[in-house]
Amino acid sequence: MSETAKIEYNGSTVELPVVTGTENEKAVDIGPLRAKTGLITLDTGFKNTGSTQSAITFLDGENGILHYRGYPIEQLADQSNFLEVAYLLIYGDLPNKAQFDAFTTAIKEEMHVHENVKIFLSGFPQSAHPMGMLSSVIAALHAFHPQDLDPYRPAEAIDRTIIRLLAKMPVIVSWIHSHVRGLPCVQPNANYEYVEDYTRMMFSVPTHDYKIDPILVSALHKLLILHADHEQNCSTSTVRIVGSSLANLYASISAGVNALWGPLHGGANQEVIEMLEEIKANGGDVDLYVNKAKDKNDSFRLMGFGHRVYKNFDPRARIIKAACDEILGKMGIDDPVLSIAKRLEEVALQDPYFVERKLYPNVDFYSGIIYRAIGIPVDFFTVMFALGRLPGWIAQWKEMLANKEPIGRPRQVYVGPVNRTYVPISAR
Ligand code: ACO
Repeated sequence: MSETAKIEYNGSTVELPVVTGTENEKAVDIGPLRAKTGLITLDTGFKNTGSTQSAITFLDGENGILHYRGYPIEQLADQSNFLEVAYLLIYGDLPNKAQFDAFTTAIKEEMHVHENVKIFLSGFPQSAHPMGMLSSVIAALHAFHPQDLDPYRPAEAIDRTIIRLLAKMPVIVSWIHSHVRGLPCVQPNANYEYVEDYTRMMFSVPTHDYKIDPILVSALHKLLILHADHEQNCSTSTVRIVGSSLANLYASISAGVNALWGPLHGGANQEVIEMLEEIKANGGDVDLYVNKAKDKNDSFRLMGFGHRVYKNFDPRARIIKAACDEILGKMGIDDPVLSIAKRLEEVALQDPYFVERKLYPNVDFYSGIIYRAIGIPVDFFTVMFALGRLPGWIAQWKEMLANKEPIGRPRQVYVGPVNRTYVPISAR
C-alpha cells in the first residue's frame, strides 16, 4: 500500500497520494484536492511546490548536494568537459566515445550562423545590454529555421533543432561581443573544440593571431559545467512553462534568457562585481555593507548571497572559490576585489543575521572574479551563465515534451473588488 497524506476540511477527510523520488524526496500529490474539496493550494513564489517529476538534476539544499543525472557536481567539474556534460543532461547518460564523436560532429555541422543575423545585430545600439541582444537573436533564429517550429515533428528533427541551438550559441555570444566592440564577427571553425573555438571567436582581434590559452579554456569548461543545470529555478521553470504551450525551442530558450537576466537570478553575477568594486572604492569597509544588507529600511542586499533552495553551502560556490584562487594564481593576477570578497564572506558567515537565515555565498559570488580575470566584460557575465545553462534548459524542455506535460497554468486566489456596476463617464 503506497503512502498517503490526509487533509481534513469541512468535516470530511481527503486522502492524497504521496509521491517518493529516487533520492527519497516526498511530495503530496494535490491533483485530486480540488475535485474532492473545492480547494486550491496557495504558494506564492512556488516556495514549496513541485512542478514536475524530473530525472535530470538532484539538489539537496539542506546538505549542499548537487548531482546531474546521478553524478556529483564535484566529479564532473573536475574531470569532465562541457559538451560531455551537455550530452549527459540532454540524453540521460554519459556518452561513449562513438556517441561523443557523433554528437560533436553534428554540432560542427550546425555552427554556421546566417549572415543576416549580423544585420539584425547591427540595429542594436552598441550600448545595448548583451542579455537583451542574446534573447532577441535566439528568438529570431526561428525565422532562419522555420522547419523547427512544428511541435509534432519526429524525434530526430527535434534533436536537430537542439544541436542547432547548441552549435550556434557560442557564435551568437561572440558576435554580440564583436558588435559591442565594433569589431568584425569571427566565423566558427570546426577544427577547434567547442570551448576553444568560443574563446577564439570571442577574443580574436583583426590585427593579431589568436593563440588558444589552455588555462582560460579549462577555467571555462569548469564554469560552464557548474552552471549547466539547477533543476526548477526561475529561468528553467520559465523555459518549461513557455515550452508547455508547444512554443518552439528558440522562443522557450529566449524566454529563459530573459528570466535569467534579473538581478535576483543570473543577473546577480554582474551585480556582485559592481558591489565589490563599490566597496573597494569606498575604502573596503565590508562591515558597512554587511550592516546595510541587514537594515530592513535599506533595499541593499548582499548580492551573491542567499539561495531559495540551499540552506547550507552552495556546492558550486565552494568549487568556484577554490577555482578562483587557482586560476588567478596561474594567470599571475592579484585582484584586490578577491580579498574583499573573502573578507565579506568571512564577516557575513559569522553574523547572526546571516547564520539564522542560512544565507551563504551562491554560485554568483566568486564567478565574476574569474570571468573578469579571463577578459569577459562585466555585462557579459550573465551571458556566460546563459551559455552554460543552455544544455540544462534544453534537457528540461525535452523532458517536459517527452512527459507530455500539460500546459502550465497556475491558479490564483482573487482578492480584487467584486460585482461592481459600470457607470459611464460620458455618452458613447
Ligand atoms: N542579503 C541580505 N538579506 C538577505 C539576502 C541577501 N542577499 N538574501 C535573503 N535575505 C534575507 C531576506 O531579507 C529575508 O529576511 P527576513 O526573513 O528577515 O524577511 C530572508 O533572508 C529570506 O530571504 P527571501 O528573500 O525570503 O528568500 P528567497 O528564497 O525568496 O530569495 C534570493 C532567494 C532571491 C536568492 C535572495 O537570497 C537574494 O535576493 N539574494 C541576492 C541575489 C542573488 O545573489 N541572487 C542569485 C541567486 S543564485 C541564482 O539564481 C543563480
